[in-house]
Amino acid sequence: MKIKIVTLFKEMFIPFLETSIIKRAINNKLVEVELVDLRTYSNDKHNHVDDTPYGGGSGMVIRVDVVKRALDDIKSSASKVILTTPRGITYNQQIANKLSKEEEIIILCGHYEGFDERVLDYVDYEISIGDYVLTGGEIAAMTICDSIIRLLKDVIKEESYKDDSFQTGLLEYPQYTRPYIYDDKKVPDVLVNGNHEEIRKYRLYESLKLTYLRRKDLLDKYSLNKEEEELLKKIERETLQKK
Ligand SMILES: C[S@@+](CC[C@H](N)C(=O)[O-])C[C@H]1O[C@@H](n2cnc3c(N)ncnc32)[C@H](O)[C@@H]1O
Repeated sequence: MKIKIVTLFKEMFIPFLETSIIKRAINNKLVEVELVDLRTYSNDKHNHVDDTPYGGGSGMVIRVDVVKRALDDIKSSASKVILTTPRGITYNQQIANKLSKEEEIIILCGHYEGFDERVLDYVDYEISIGDYVLTGGEIAAMTICDSIIRLLKDVIKEESYKDDSFQTGLLEYPQYTRPYIYDDKKVPDVLVNGNHEEIRKYRLYESLKLTYLRRKDLLDKYSLNKEEEELLKKIERETLQKK
């Protein structure tokens, strides 16, 4: 997969691309990440990429002609263009899974007041990473890249992410490691008895319970199998009894 990031602040990406799993994925050629300086596509002598908003108001708006020149230069027939914007659809694991299957994505990072609205004619997705406003699209682009890269083949083992929160549609069950007892709190017995079927059931139960207690909205979209239906009924009964 190839990811091209169009930004005014390439330097923000250096530590991100040179650390841990992302660095290894790049070194092992499982993904190629290219940083594209939007300023290269300015056509004025001061390298401006933005201008004041029509109609007045504060801040600067990134020019559509500059963005279009960049896209004309870097886009291929396989590219999907993502605009980072607080007005976009809220990013989630489903979108990450979908994007991880693309051959090439281009991520546009805004700054200042964002982009001239006419940029929308040249994008495939408008993505927000949450209901808050960042100073620029760089952190959003890193979020999108990170979540996609870890899903690419051979970047991490499939079993490392297949039970992750949201990947299954549920929140992940609780995890424990050594020490066995800490501050008088013991690891649940089921996890140390070596019975894989019991561990599977315990984890499924805990995963459903956490999702039920914290994110009922996820359960509304999740299709339960027979076993999960039974477990959920049990969780509902237990929760009612506690009230
Ligand atoms: C200060 S913001 C512009 C906000 C814009 N004036 C608005 O209210 O919708 C500058 C840039 O940061 C990025 N950005 C800010 N918040 C974001 C979010 N929640 N998700 C994705 N990108 C975001 C976008 O690239 C945006 O163009």
